[in-house]
Amino acid sequence: MASQARPAKTIGILTSGGDCSGLNAAMRAVVCRAIEFHGWRVVGIHQGTMGLLRRPVDFEELGLRIFTTNILRMGGTILGTTNKGDPFAFPGPTGRRRDRSADFIAGYHLTGADALIGVGGDGSFAILRRLAQQGNIRLVGIPKTIDNDVGATENSIGFQSAVAVATEALDRLQPTAASHDRVMILEVMGRDAGHIALSAGIAGGADIILIPEIAYTIENVAAHIGRVRQRGRNFALVVVAEAVKDTLGQQVRRRHGTGSATYGGIGHRLGEEIARMTGAETRVTVLGHVQRGGEPNATDRLIASAFGVHAVDLVAAGQFDRMVAWQNRQVVDVPLADAIAAPQRVDPAGALVRTARGLDISFGDA
Ligand code: F6P
Repeated sequence: MASQARPAKTIGILTSGGDCSGLNAAMRAVVCRAIEFHGWRVVGIHQGTMGLLRRPVDFEELGLRIFTTNILRMGGTILGTTNKGDPFAFPGPTGRRRDRSADFIAGYHLTGADALIGVGGDGSFAILRRLAQQGNIRLVGIPKTIDNDVGATENSIGFQSAVAVATEALDRLQPTAASHDRVMILEVMGRDAGHIALSAGIAGGADIILIPEIAYTIENVAAHIGRVRQRGRNFALVVVAEAVKDTLGQQVRRRHGTGSATYGGIGHRLGEEIARMTGAETRVTVLGHVQRGGEPNATDRLIASAFGVHAVDLVAAGQFDRMVAWQNRQVVDVPLADAIAAPQRVDPAGALVRTARGLDISFGDA
């Protein structure tokens, strides 16, 4: 099974940014490929960039036990992660930010790693790439995010599972909507991209999909609900992406106790407006973090496994500053710079939007 030529190597791996389903499956694949086929060591860094900023450095050796457990099916990340650990602007106790990139780089070299596999989204990659250039770190990226907004890849780990959860939510909302003659509004995540809303909206039979990439008017949303009623249907399903602006053109955000703010709340604003304009009874479901947790679906397990194996093979081939990617039904690799050059948003003229329009799904176009 194992290859003959075995250059001594240790690979470091970390997960960075928001978690999602399929991270552990990717780690499992990295461990198998690196240890079983190349005879290398793998060290897992805890809590993303944070693990390398701590002293002693916070990491553990990942052995083949990772490969033999149930890890393929497990949600979250066994290593932990953070979306607040930018070493270039690290928050101190008083809130003042300082540059701790040198600590990160020193921490990385203390692990004894010869290469680093970073599993992250575009924000994490931009930071890791800068650290890699500054600190002589040989970096390979694996894209993950439920938002699916990393460039140069059709799929990032976690997206397909999030779509499956949002679709199931629509499956469950439809019967209760029909029983009560209601307009149901489902608010989904996705940050500034409408990929989850678009895919789940088509798969779950939505009547209206609102995404940040296509401007809407509430009048057009109300008019479409009117058309649905004229056809004799007593309910409607609306999917709205969290970054969609309200009728005044404002983004809707929620501030959390720690001071950070995330999108959230457009569903309720929309529910009130639709009720006011159509007289319909509306109810709002905000899906939130259930889209991120739980078991990865089969597609995410497959993509994560392919990404993990290919990432290790890039290290073996001495190919760095690259990201594994999914294109045309297979795993490839691209320059990391291409992946982070611009976020991948929904193409308003793209195939899925055309499909939705072909199904008489309204985007409430302004
Ligand atoms: O980027 C992933 C994501 O789940 C977004 O869809 C969402 O806007 C954000 O993270 C939520 O962040 P947090 O985990 O900090 O609440």
